[in-house]
Parts: sequence; C-alpha cells; structure tokens
Amino acid sequence: MRKPFICGNWKMNKNVDQAKDMIEKLKAKVADVTEVEMGICPTALALTAFKEAAAGSDIVTGAQNIYWEESGAYTGEISAKMLADSEIEYTIIGHSERREIFGESDFEVNKKVHAALENGVKAIVCVGETLEERKAEKIEAKVNFQVDAALAGLSEEEIAEVVIAYEPIWAIGTGETASAEEANRVIGIIRDHIRESYPQAAEKIRIQYGGSVKPHNVEEIMAQEEIDGALVGGASLKAESFSEIILKTE
Ligand code: G3H
Repeated sequence: MRKPFICGNWKMNKNVDQAKDMIEKLKAKVADVTEVEMGICPTALALTAFKEAAAGSDIVTGAQNIYWEESGAYTGEISAKMLADSEIEYTIIGHSERREIFGESDFEVNKKVHAALENGVKAIVCVGETLEERKAEKIEAKVNFQVDAALAGLSEEEIAEVVIAYEPIWAIGTGETASAEEANRVIGIIRDHIRESYPQAAEKIRIQYGGSVKPHNVEEIMAQEEIDGALVGGASLKAESFSEIILKTE
C-alpha cells in the first residue's frame, strides 16, 4: 500500500513572511489528515523558517533543488548535506523548469539524486515529455530514458524510496491537464519499466502526477490506480486550494 503524497512546489513565489503566514493557515485546515503525506517546497530562503513554522504538524518540507557537492566554491548553490543538517526532508530534482531554463542535464539529475539519498534527503525526481515529443509519439522513450538516467547506480532499496513526479511539460502552469486516464497510462508505463529491473521497488516507489492539478480535478486524478499523489504548483500557493486538494485525497 503506497501512501499518497501531495506536495506543493512554490517555485519562486512567497517571501519568508508569506511562507510563514500560509503554513499557519494550512496547519489548521489539515490538522486531522492521516492518510496523505503532505509537503511543501518553498524557496531556499524560506526553508528553515517554513520548517520551524510547520513544527507540530505532519507537513514535511522540501527544497526545490540541490547541488551534489557537500560544500565549497559553488556560488549560489546549497547542498544536500545542508538540507539534512536543517532536517529538511525532501528535495525536488530535475524539475522541467530547471532542465529547460537552467540547462540541467540527466547526468546532473543523477548526481543530485545520489547526493540527496546519501545524505538522507528524499528525492522527488521530475520527468515528462514536451508537446512535440507527445505528438511524435515519443512519450514512453522520453520518460523511461529520464527515469533510467535519474536512477542509475542506485540500489533497489534506494529506488523504492524515491518519488517520481510525472509532469508532462505542456500541462505545467497552462491550465491544461493530461486526462486522468492518460496520466495513469504513462505512470503505468514508468512503473512497468522500473519493474523490469527492480520488481520490488516498482511496487513501492511512489509516482505522482503534476501539471495543473486543482481542487476540481484532483479526485479524478487520485482515483487512478497508478497515481500515488500530486506535485502541485499554482494551486499550492493558497491555503484554501491546497488544503482542498489534500482533503479530497484523504
Ligand atoms: O511542480 C509543479 C508543477 O510544475 C505543476 O505546476 O500545478 O502550476 O501546473 P502547476
């Protein structure tokens, strides 16, 4: 039985005060939730304040990115070790915005996944196809390639602990969603692919859907057999909409 995981990705939104304000509101709304793992990934600047404000709730904290070295002359970066030292539970790795805007490669994604797990930080690895790849019927090739690259060199036990977020790039922030059935189909493809090499991990690994998940469509998405949660962008920015997504999953 895989516990559903609803995680907000705030991207480059909310200053520290706004982050603290929202967590206070969210805590009250989701205080009775037991069947859903809940998380938010604020900006790096707000991570520790958010974590402190989330104390006493079951809401976990995640970063949006890391660098794989532990420390040193890497201007602008934060390490998995630093997250672990601040008891930050998760980090997103390889979000399509990082891949597309910042040129992050599959090789880098893999190095980051290793660094996260070696430091006891859980990884949410994003994969997904562009609209062009979808039209050219390359969805399966693209997502399986990204999954293989991200997970290369991990043990089956480590793979079981990873979270994958399937986010079709054309559905992010556009109001367009893959139909729930289509999201389920692609996530099934990813799980089957993992099963070929790691049969036990395939049953345990959680695969989220991301891309315009909202209160009005979350029930249909979460009703799908293969979908283990959601990575939520825009709708995670308000306590009202994000708590509604969580409560409809519970
Ligand atoms: O990480 C979250 C995804 O990019 C989805 O964002 O819900 O605003 O489409 P969105």
